[in-house]
Amino acid sequence: MTIQPSKVWFITGCSTGFGRALTEAVLEQGEIVVATARKPQQLKNLVQQYGVGQSPAIGDRILVLALDVTQSSDIQAAVNQAIATFGRIDVLVNNAGYGVFGAVEEVSDVDIRRQFETNVYGALNVTRAVLPHLRRQRSGHILNISSSGGFVGFPGAGIYCASKFALEGWSEALAKEVAPLGIHVTIVEPGAFRTAFNGTLVVPHQAIEDYATTSGQMLQWLHQMDGQQPGDPKKAATAMIQVVNHSNPPLRLVLGADVLEVVHAKLEAVAADLAEWRHVSVNTVFEGAAVSAIGG
Ligand SMILES: NC(=O)c1ccc[n+]([C@@H]2O[C@H](COP(=O)([O-])OP(=O)(O)OC[C@H]3O[C@@H](n4cnc5c(N)ncnc54)[C@H](OP(=O)(O)O)[C@@H]3O)[C@@H](O)[C@H]2O)c1
Repeated sequence: MTIQPSKVWFITGCSTGFGRALTEAVLEQGEIVVATARKPQQLKNLVQQYGVGQSPAIGDRILVLALDVTQSSDIQAAVNQAIATFGRIDVLVNNAGYGVFGAVEEVSDVDIRRQFETNVYGALNVTRAVLPHLRRQRSGHILNISSSGGFVGFPGAGIYCASKFALEGWSEALAKEVAPLGIHVTIVEPGAFRTAFNGTLVVPHQAIEDYATTSGQMLQWLHQMDGQQPGDPKKAATAMIQVVNHSNPPLRLVLGADVLEVVHAKLEAVAADLAEWRHVSVNTVFEGAAVSAIGG
């Protein structure tokens, strides 16, 4: 019997919520975690239980590193330290993120850019720093934590959705680039989960009355849901581990019955639009031009 070596997970945003729950679940099943956070002190108790943090001894299974994903120099340093300590990274989880909510017109330019700095460029830069190691290994799995809002646009969530759609766009392309190299990519789309997310939303300084029944209603719902969300982050962590352990993992993993419903509704709506407007769509090419699939 061959003993499978323990996988090394590199997770961003581990201080609370999904990142924290996943870190605990991975440690409980005996694997190794490079747990990164802006506030690494919040992981102190896990270090006491599973490792000694900055200079791990043999057998320690957690390395806690300070990492703000908007800081490129932090990213390279954290990845270098992970490799220097454990020699490999098997699973990268781009989890760090937050929500800028409000109607598209209400949100400030600064808040829009900050949202993209974390949710899009942060995850992208961490991935680009880890990829050379996964390519060298000819193996690995990248889990990008998107959202139901990464597949469906909701009123009052336009900027957050844009950031998660962007995350999904490059993730889907990347999955096709790295599949021949033995690397998997899974986009995780959670619904409403009981984490610190709803309590840390960035909302507009000044609401516009005309959006009260669309964006305003969404903000009210998010506020009321805080602490009541149906999703259990521990169960989400178990689902993510299940996907990583699967020999043929999916490109998308929906978490929550609420998301399944909205994703199906969108797929049906897109299919209906495509069918109804097909004659217009196909009638836009040069006379006699050859049409091939995009990308050849
Ligand atoms: N909960 C939900 O309902 C839900 C639904 C769909 C998707 N998601 C996604 O799930 C992911 C995790 O969120 P969560 O629900 O677990 O909420 P959470 O409890 O608020 O956790 C978010 C984590 O991201 C970290 N973070 C934020 N900006 C960061 C940065 N620049 N650099 C490093 N870490 C940063 C936070 O660190 P600090 O403690 O330092 O702020 C925190 O640890 C996010 O990407 C979110 O968009 C959540």
